[in-house]
Amino acid sequence: MSGTRHYLDHAATTAVRPEAAAAYAEELTRVGNPSSLHAAGRDARRRLEEAREQLAAALDAEPAEVIFTSGGTEADNLAVKGAYWARRAATPERVRLAVSAVEHHAVLEAAGWLAAHEGAVLDLLPVGADGVLDVPALQAHLDAHGRATAVVSVMWANNETGAAQPVERVVALAHAAGVPVHTDAVQAVGHVPVRFGASGVDALSLSGHKLGAPVGVGALLARRELGLSPVEHGGGQERGVRSGTLAVAGARALAAAVSAAVAEQEAEADRLRGLRDRLVAAALAMPGVTLSGPPITSSGPDEARLPGTAHLTIEGADADALLFGLDMAGIAASSGSACQAGVQEASHVLVAMGCSAEQARSALRFSLGWTSTAADVDAVAAALPGVVEQARRAHATRRPRPTTTTTRSVS
Ligand SMILES: Cc1ncc(COP(=O)(O)O)c(C=O)c1O
Repeated sequence: MSGTRHYLDHAATTAVRPEAAAAYAEELTRVGNPSSLHAAGRDARRRLEEAREQLAAALDAEPAEVIFTSGGTEADNLAVKGAYWARRAATPERVRLAVSAVEHHAVLEAAGWLAAHEGAVLDLLPVGADGVLDVPALQAHLDAHGRATAVVSVMWANNETGAAQPVERVVALAHAAGVPVHTDAVQAVGHVPVRFGASGVDALSLSGHKLGAPVGVGALLARRELGLSPVEHGGGQERGVRSGTLAVAGARALAAAVSAAVAEQEAEADRLRGLRDRLVAAALAMPGVTLSGPPITSSGPDEARLPGTAHLTIEGADADALLFGLDMAGIAASSGSACQAGVQEASHVLVAMGCSAEQARSALRFSLGWTSTAADVDAVAAALPGVVEQARRAHATRRPRPTTTTTRSVS
């Protein structure tokens, strides 16, 4: 059995909600392929379309805008590659992709693959020291290359720092230049208000396992006017852009989890902000500890960060030692950098924010979620001073390690 008693890694994956588990389990007792014409198939289709409607209603989308996928990575790939191919086919000079430097690897690697294999030009949009998109840099990019840009991709909120991105301004600028916008909202849906229709974005990715559905299901919300070329080819399901037999159990679980998370979002965000603020205050009471990302200026719904994420830099301590110490105390957290086989890898997000290799080595992320309690925060507050002291002692006595600029992925 796991020794974790306090799970503070909800941004990596969160527990399945009872509503989602019930919908999933119920569907497992059924048979029928939604594409089959017999009664069992038609019933499966009806249950799938109900899930689609439920998901769309929770996120201010039209049912026809929902494309079910296997998760966030697939949704991001479909948005970036699908929109790029379709745009370039319609307007061959649109070969550029403007992507924020702090995107998840699912976006960065998809765009990088297009650059390596399909003649795309990848423009990384810079962020400030707080991890928030440099909007004037986007404006300058669009002024110079707007006519040659196929798609802009800027995430709703960052998975490492929790920084919310100015999606509304991105949409206004990109649309003025005739460029569609994709946003990776994998960390945002269910945690902050996300309204697809009202946001103006052309495509939005979400992932089930970040909000209480099982791993292996997600969705891309895409406006019908946005051309999308398929990434996978086959039976032509999901508007012809995502072939494969539809996973009704996953779709129903996703719809149930999203509905529950969205219904509880406001109250839950208040609760998590309270817990997070207490955790951050306990951490910042120690010397040499700083909070990354936008400052916590107000704990209101308009604050520029996710309510449950706290990303800390612990001066003079290595993240692997901190994680080990916390793990020994029964606490699961995550780092923004990792040491593998003696080679230090820096998070591309922290590098983009201008952090030094030393700072990147000392990054620790706590992420709270729907099962988090005050006892979890109390446990961190009690354990952290000792864990930090021990990690700093180990750091002071260790031999210098090689540092590379290789980056690694953080969920
Ligand atoms: C911001 C972001 N985008 C995309 C993904 C990938 O989602 P999935 O794990 O569902 O493939 C993650 C998960 O770590 C994420 O945090």
